[in-house]
Amino acid sequence: MEAVILAAGKGTRMRTELPKVLHAALGKPVLGYVLDTLAEVGVKRIFAVVGYKAGLVKCFLKKYNVRPLLQSEQKGTGHAVIVAKAALKGAKGPVLVWPGDMPLVKAETLKKFMAAHEKCGSHASVLSAVAGCPKGYGRIVREGGKFTAIREELDATEEERLISEINTGIYLFDPKALFKALGKIGSDNKKGEYYLTDTIEVLREEGYGVEAFPFACGDEGLGVNSQKDLAVASEKISLREIEKHMERGVTFVAPAQTFVAPGVRIGAGTVINPWCWIETDVAIGGNCKIGPFAKIRAGTTIGNMTEIGSFVEVNRSSVGKRVCAKHLAYLGDAVVGDDVNIGAGAVTANFDGKNKHVTKVGNGVLIGSNTVLVAPVSVPPRVKTGAGAVVTRKTRMKKGDVVVGVPARPVSQKRG
Ligand code: UD1
Ligand code: CA
Repeated sequence: MEAVILAAGKGTRMRTELPKVLHAALGKPVLGYVLDTLAEVGVKRIFAVVGYKAGLVKCFLKKYNVRPLLQSEQKGTGHAVIVAKAALKGAKGPVLVWPGDMPLVKAETLKKFMAAHEKCGSHASVLSAVAGCPKGYGRIVREGGKFTAIREELDATEEERLISEINTGIYLFDPKALFKALGKIGSDNKKGEYYLTDTIEVLREEGYGVEAFPFACGDEGLGVNSQKDLAVASEKISLREIEKHMERGVTFVAPAQTFVAPGVRIGAGTVINPWCWIETDVAIGGNCKIGPFAKIRAGTTIGNMTEIGSFVEVNRSSVGKRVCAKHLAYLGDAVVGDDVNIGAGAVTANFDGKNKHVTKVGNGVLIGSNTVLVAPVSVPPRVKTGAGAVVTRKTRMKKGDVVVGVPARPVSQKRG
């Protein structure tokens, strides 16, 4: 099976210069959700139609095994698929078409859709959804229950606008029938565009089988067309992830006030307090306490029974077990051992203006309030730093030392 992702449009309704599909929901571009779901389903031959700011979109696509195809002028979704004609020349199996601005469709829904398409043997199947508010979407027109056409909102009659079954924009086509139908569509509509949706009527009139499967449920049918849609999508994605974590024994005090990206692991017994921001590629152990107001960024691991409290940011760091960083701290590029206490206001100064450097903190260390750890620096086990100490790589410390001052120096244990 081959897939064509439509990602050439500007996204005028976003009111920004950034291509719509590159707008991020919880740190990941909308297009990334589509591509990750395709990978989950196991689709390997993927083409993406790019156009508006194609360079930017192509740059993002480098992370994926996707071939970009250029649509120099954006003349509509039908025209976008025509661009893929040469690339799909040898295609035998069905061609999946997916607009790059539909990030919420789940892999399991797609699999169900693919199975139904195969079983019914139609030449074109549409994944539809029954929407509470169908406004703005193409409507699935049925006659006596039989799917006959897709009508765009702008071109629909009053009566058609009452239809609540909408087109997700995701289709499975027999390639031959698809390109034959695309050769016959026109642009005689309100937008003056070549609509992919018009292929349905063409195919039906020519005696091909067309079907619509209303398998997209709940929020899956949401497209990102405006900033408001993007905000709703982010919220839905986060809540989906939170629900999965809750099923595995994680407590969320206020799910709607917490943001968790996909690709996060959290152990059972951990409590996530409100107003936390947890990025992808984060692993949090069990029985931890997080937040309120904690920011845990990509590439971070946190051990069991650790507490990351209010206004603490942890970035690309590994934090051990039973660590306590309760208030106002920044840990960036840090490797923190077990049983460490990070005092209020302590920060790792990890950036020298050019490069990021690592801070190592040994087991049992007590970092005093307002300590600055100027990276690269390594704090041996059980060291204590005084309030306001500025610890640099020049600070000579051995296990159990107490260091104070600016720059920090060891205090004789005898003098206390
Ligand atoms: C489209 C469908 C509509 C459906 C909705 C659901 C058509 C005519 N309408 O409407 O029935 O309910 O999606 O998501 O297809 N694009 C290109 N090149 C173009 C035009 C668009 O690549 O020339 C891309 C856009 O970047 C976008 C996708 O195709 O990712 C869909 O285009 P968009 O303008 O958002 O279509 P809708 O109006 O949402
Ligand atoms: Ca859209």
